[in-house]
Amino acid sequence: MSNPVAPSGHFLTFEGMDGCGKTTQLRLLAHHLREQGRNVVETVEPGGTEIGRQIRRILLDPANTAIQPRTELLLYFASRAQNVDEVIRPALDAGSVVLCDRFTDSTLVYQGCGRGLDAAVVHDLDRIACQGLRPATTVLIDIDLETSLSRAKRRNERYGQSESRIDDESAAFHESVRKGYLALATSEPARFVVIDGRASVGDVANKIREAVQNRV
Ligand code: TMP
Repeated sequence: MSNPVAPSGHFLTFEGMDGCGKTTQLRLLAHHLREQGRNVVETVEPGGTEIGRQIRRILLDPANTAIQPRTELLLYFASRAQNVDEVIRPALDAGSVVLCDRFTDSTLVYQGCGRGLDAAVVHDLDRIACQGLRPATTVLIDIDLETSLSRAKRRNERYGQSESRIDDESAAFHESVRKGYLALATSEPARFVVIDGRASVGDVANKIREAVQNRV
């Protein structure tokens, strides 16, 4: 029987198109939950571990035009497997709230819907890499294509092009990513919270707090 006073972790992921503001919102939610006395671990995919950061550089370097769709797929899951074992599982077992910037839903929509890889293959790799670990809550910050492209462009102008390989994909690619996200949210309404990302940072943060407070 499980111990009723044992801490229970909660695995919450943030998803959305490039430029939707999820990284900022993740930090704001982490700060809010810490103020409420929760232990919070923040992580990111790809790149939440030292090995993951090395994989991230390969994945997002715009010079790596030769990378094949299956290679890309396996590298995303390689980073994720490391993060699950090294950071996410141990933190959940210790009772922390784990906030992860992207997870397998990103692979389903970017490599599945965007690149046209078979969703069943993505699910198979997820079973190997994540060993059954699934987010309890996923906050999808939804923005339209124009907002996504203009914010990603501004970010690349400000911070350089070192991570722009996926941003450089066509508008059709990004449109299929958005459709894929909305379809996932519709198919799993109990897990997904969909928030309109076009409002101000403060308004979006308040909506996320309200939506997750009874879950976390
Ligand atoms: P980020 O800039 O939000 O950290 O995401 C990095 C890029 O990697 C972003 O363009 C989405 C892409 N990506 C995938 O294509 N598949 C994945 O599984 C993940 C996690 C990210």
